[in-house]
Amino acid sequence: MVEFVQGAYILAALLFILALAGLSKHETARRGNQFGMAGMGLAVGATLLLVLDQVTSYDSAAGWFGVVIILVAGSIGAVIGIRLARGVEMTGMPELIAMMHSFVGLAAVLVGYNTWIEVADFAGSADGIHNAEVFIGVFIGAVTFTGSIVANLKLSAKMKSAPMTLPGRHLLNLGILVLSAILLVWFMNADGWGGTAPLVIMTVLALVLGFHLVAAIGGGDMPVVVSMLNSYSGWAAAAAGFMLGNDLLIITGALVGSSGAILSYIMCKAMNRSFVSVIAGGFGSDGTVSGEDRDYGEHREIQADEVAALLADASSVVITPGYGMAVAQAQYPVAEMTRKLREKGVDVRFGIHPVAGRLPGHMNVLLAEAKVPYDIVLEMDEINDDLPEIDVVLVIGANDTVNPAALEEPGSPIAGMPVIEVWKAKDVVVFKRSMATGYAGVQNPLFFKDNTQMLFGDAKDKVNEIVAALG
Ligand code: TAP
Repeated sequence: MVEFVQGAYILAALLFILALAGLSKHETARRGNQFGMAGMGLAVGATLLLVLDQVTSYDSAAGWFGVVIILVAGSIGAVIGIRLARGVEMTGMPELIAMMHSFVGLAAVLVGYNTWIEVADFAGSADGIHNAEVFIGVFIGAVTFTGSIVANLKLSAKMKSAPMTLPGRHLLNLGILVLSAILLVWFMNADGWGGTAPLVIMTVLALVLGFHLVAAIGGGDMPVVVSMLNSYSGWAAAAAGFMLGNDLLIITGALVGSSGAILSYIMCKAMNRSFVSVIAGGFGSDGTVSGEDRDYGEHREIQADEVAALLADASSVVITPGYGMAVAQAQYPVAEMTRKLREKGVDVRFGIHPVAGRLPGHMNVLLAEAKVPYDIVLEMDEINDDLPEIDVVLVIGANDTVNPAALEEPGSPIAGMPVIEVWKAKDVVVFKRSMATGYAGVQNPLFFKDNTQMLFGDAKDKVNEIVAALG
């Protein structure tokens, strides 16, 4: 049986790798998810078989009771999971994911305690490596648990999104890390139940650390934090795998841990920010304008019917959506407008900035939801060179991701961030409600360029008006 289960685990691990590979492109994302589901089904099934095999060989009442608990808890979890997944809006996905990470964190803490109680109760003292696994697993799990809960509360606006900036907050974090290291030494040298005190004190400290780390980060940075917590939850799972001696959990944890870390790195790079500065918190989170007060001149306004006329005359159009399209839920009318223009023979394409919106792939998901064909949705690098040849660019609720100051003003807070160079097109129309700044809180000189016109109002309403005017 053990060999059979090991074989199933290897197959499940391969399916998880195929899942990750599939998820890297939207064309293959659905298949990637199917691989992931198959892998998880296999992993859970094989583990259940292993448990059943062990229980049958011992045939103890406690063992059978354990099986019943696993089945009941699994069924309740499955029902809750299916209900949540069916009910969640695409925009609510990050907070759901944050909540799920908190479960992984809690599971790692519980596995850690369970492993340690077994050792303390039966064997008196375990080897150092095993103790270190327990301690580190509980630590990462506890940080992930409270950190993910705060991320969930901030994303769902149940907690203020402004960063909580306690005086000496970095020292507080450092202090907890140093104290935890001292407690680790105490724990590793304690026999039997003597390890209780350091383990419990460290758990409380780690719970506080997780809360404080994430509370100190502004709501806008939550996507990076969620992907960072995703990585932590992976390492917590890997630590649990070491404690339980389960190879598949180690492999899966390492896959989640490293893919979360890579995703956080990609997001920070695309925002031209260092990972440390995100974790340290503060940036673009309180809505204050941090750009210079330069006078860029006057902006010009345009009305929806005039935009419709401009579009009908154009032979090529590029749409660059941003966070405002998600806020307005304008993806459906945008898809409708695209369809109408394509019917009229206009070449319409989308240019997607890697950090447009508030989570990786945010725009791609919305456009896919509205059934915009994949082949006209291009990445920033694929569209930038073509922009000088484009007749009209529609900037729908994007701001920072199309800000020329990133390239032209070395002192700007977003200097160096790659942007979609929309101003190179013949005409640019910017859809937004006011002259307010975007996420980074910096003014956008694009709005004042000679070839730019502003279409003020809610993006969904305005695109609907254009669709109506296109006839
Ligand atoms: P932003 O710079 O955030 O600007 C969005 C614009 O949408 C705002 O200027 C806002 O202007 C407008 N808007 C809001 N609601 C609207 C509505 N209902 N109708 C029309 N317009 C509306 O957007 P972006 O260009 O997508 O840039 C994303 C920013 O988020 C970047 O700074 C990025 O670094 C940051 N960020 C991204 C991520 C990821 S992974 N995507 C993660 C964290 C942070 P008005 O208020 O005037 O309407």
